[in-house]
Amino acid sequence: MDVKDLVRDKYAQLAIRVAEGASCCAASCCGGSADPITSGLYDEAQIAGLPPDAVQASLGCGNPTALAELHPGEVVLDLGSGGGIDVLLSAKRVGPAGRAYGLDMTDEMLALARENQRKAGVANVEFLKGEIERIPLPDDSVDVVISNCVINLSGDKDRVFAEAFRVLRPGGRFAVSDVVVQGDIPAEIRRNMELWVGCVAGALERDEYVSKLARAGFDAIRVEPTRVYDIEDARAFLSGHGVDVDAAAPLVRDRFMSAFIRARKPLSTGHGSD
Ligand SMILES: C[S@@+](CC[C@H](N)C(=O)[O-])C[C@H]1O[C@@H](n2cnc3c(N)ncnc32)[C@H](O)[C@@H]1O
Repeated sequence: MDVKDLVRDKYAQLAIRVAEGASCCAASCCGGSADPITSGLYDEAQIAGLPPDAVQASLGCGNPTALAELHPGEVVLDLGSGGGIDVLLSAKRVGPAGRAYGLDMTDEMLALARENQRKAGVANVEFLKGEIERIPLPDDSVDVVISNCVINLSGDKDRVFAEAFRVLRPGGRFAVSDVVVQGDIPAEIRRNMELWVGCVAGALERDEYVSKLARAGFDAIRVEPTRVYDIEDARAFLSGHGVDVDAAAPLVRDRFMSAFIRARKPLSTGHGSD
């Protein structure tokens, strides 16, 4: 199995558990109350009125729609939309004249998200099946690309940034929450596939994130930490994955963080035609 199959498999299982009514799935990166990465991201007022399964399936590491500027009439695309929480929140913000797309590769997550859309009764939403490395939308068709804890899961992040750049209109915004690393991480953690699918091992180093976005063509790039994981958090997310937690946790304390990453597609991309 390659990393994409492992990721698809894990998130399919989580979607099934939520659809079957599990109150808490308790694994890393799955919205359990003890998970330091996914817990406590949304305030009550923001999620009031959303279908409970959309909230229960929240597997993000931030709250991109609270930090992104979204305006009525805009088109928003959520990369790796999961159970759809950020798509439904975006749809409210862009209103009936706007549109919110969710893109996900996992059938079980798409089924859950579409059911949540039906329960929410929103018409300006569409969930698309596909991969964030090959976005099934035309060039220059989106105002804002959001994402919540998904880009770290990709084995080809350059491709994801190139695709986000392609589908954004000139002047369009990239506004994502993701896990980011500051400093060195032990190779044992980087190689651990369970920690990859748990949103940890595949995280980009902060400067690398910025340089990859710049290489894709973005400007106005900013990385804003929203939560830095201390030693107890590190113990929690490293536990149960075959890592020597006592040895590894002190080495990664304060090195993993959730961050909000903003960037912009320039109005002129310098190719002569615009
Ligand atoms: C950590 S969950 C986050 C879900 C959602 N953004 C949230 O905040 O609840 C990751 C989601 O991204 C999807 N995903 C992971 N890698 C993907 C890829 N390369 N292309 C499309 N979807 C992907 C998974 O199927 C899963 O639904």
